[in-house]
Amino acid sequence: MDNTPNRPEWASRIGFILAAVGSAVGLGNIWRFPYIMGKYGGSAFLLVYLLIILFVCSLPLICELAFGKRTKKESVGAYGSVNPKLKFFGWLNVVTATIIASFYFVIGGWLLNYIYVNAAKFVITDYDAYFSSFVSSPVLPCILTTIFLLMVMFFIFRGVNKGIEFINKIMMPLFLLIIIILCIFSMTLPNAAAGLKFMFMPDFTKINGEMLLAALGQSLFTLSIGMGILLVYGSYMTKKENTVRSAYMIIFSDTLFAILAAIMIFPAAFSFGLDVNSGAGLAFITLPNIFAQIPYGNVFAVLFFVLLFFAAFTSSISIVEVPTAALIENLKISRNKAAAIVSVVVFVLAIPVTLSMGIFGKFKLFGLNLFDFFDYITSNILLPLNTIILCVVIGWFVKLRNIRAFRNKTVYAIFNFLLRFVTPVALTILILFGTVLKK
Ligand code: PHE
Repeated sequence: MDNTPNRPEWASRIGFILAAVGSAVGLGNIWRFPYIMGKYGGSAFLLVYLLIILFVCSLPLICELAFGKRTKKESVGAYGSVNPKLKFFGWLNVVTATIIASFYFVIGGWLLNYIYVNAAKFVITDYDAYFSSFVSSPVLPCILTTIFLLMVMFFIFRGVNKGIEFINKIMMPLFLLIIIILCIFSMTLPNAAAGLKFMFMPDFTKINGEMLLAALGQSLFTLSIGMGILLVYGSYMTKKENTVRSAYMIIFSDTLFAILAAIMIFPAAFSFGLDVNSGAGLAFITLPNIFAQIPYGNVFAVLFFVLLFFAAFTSSISIVEVPTAALIENLKISRNKAAAIVSVVVFVLAIPVTLSMGIFGKFKLFGLNLFDFFDYITSNILLPLNTIILCVVIGWFVKLRNIRAFRNKTVYAIFNFLLRFVTPVALTILILFGTVLKK
């Protein structure tokens, strides 16, 4: 396989791990995981989730990393190296990543606003009304989305080492520090124990088909599988790096941060008798309501939104590196040119997405506004589809042994079987339930 000279490589092992964990740990960990865990039976869910990660999702994760590492190419080049006709699948990853960027960056813009209003101590009495009027206003969210985009792209322009690796090395340790502070704070609130009990009390009656699908969908999204990210990050790995060990470190850290997020949110929500919901409502309405009721609430609010900002920022960087690397290596252009093109494309997509919460709200695709539509097609269709394609291409064409991730024969045989049969079937069921069989 070809080793293109002058291709960037991670300068250090820790730099690579932090960047990969930075990509995995995102809004999915903080506002989706705690809610799903609570809804589907607390620690019973956690157990099932870990089994699914271990037996279904760790495989595509290892394969994506190893595919990039072995070919030393981003997604288009990696698929193209198997057969030029397969380049199409690489471009499908690029399109998926670009669509995700266009709605993820909008949330990045909202976070900037919430950091500002809390730091400047704005008095907001009704967060529900404030949130709706803010996201639907025509100008400010567009400006903030653009600022967030420019901030992210700044590090993409600076490249893999001076940009991506550098910023992850700063943000990820701070992220850990802030989440620990907030967890301690949450656990010292009155009635916190009830929240922890609810979270960790196993309720095995809640294990059913729907829960399994929720766990599967959540693990794909949270581990950033099927977006081409692990492929491109894997392609910057040095030869001596151990792929399987790195993959499990990413999985372990991602799960740890998801559990910490739950420990941060449940005790506080129980203490204040508030309902825990998922998505925008949790971060932008429920929690700000709690902060408004406590002494020094605005300090905690700023910490919380900075935490979310770091989570979103490091994930956003990884998502735009996918199209950027694809343009650099397939059109043979400079990083600056590629990053400029990606900035323009994401900007052109993100502005209508921002406005779809307000003045463009009437424009619907399959009954959804643009924001929800992009979220829906990526999570329910494109991510599982890209992952199935990856499993089939590696499992049946490249062959697992050729990516040389496993040394032990028995482990290899089990993983090969899982990769060829179990993961693709499980993901096909996920797509069917998310689309045609949807109630
Ligand atoms: N793993 C991320 C999360 O949990 C998902 C993601 C990665 C989203 C990269 C966008 C970009 O939020």
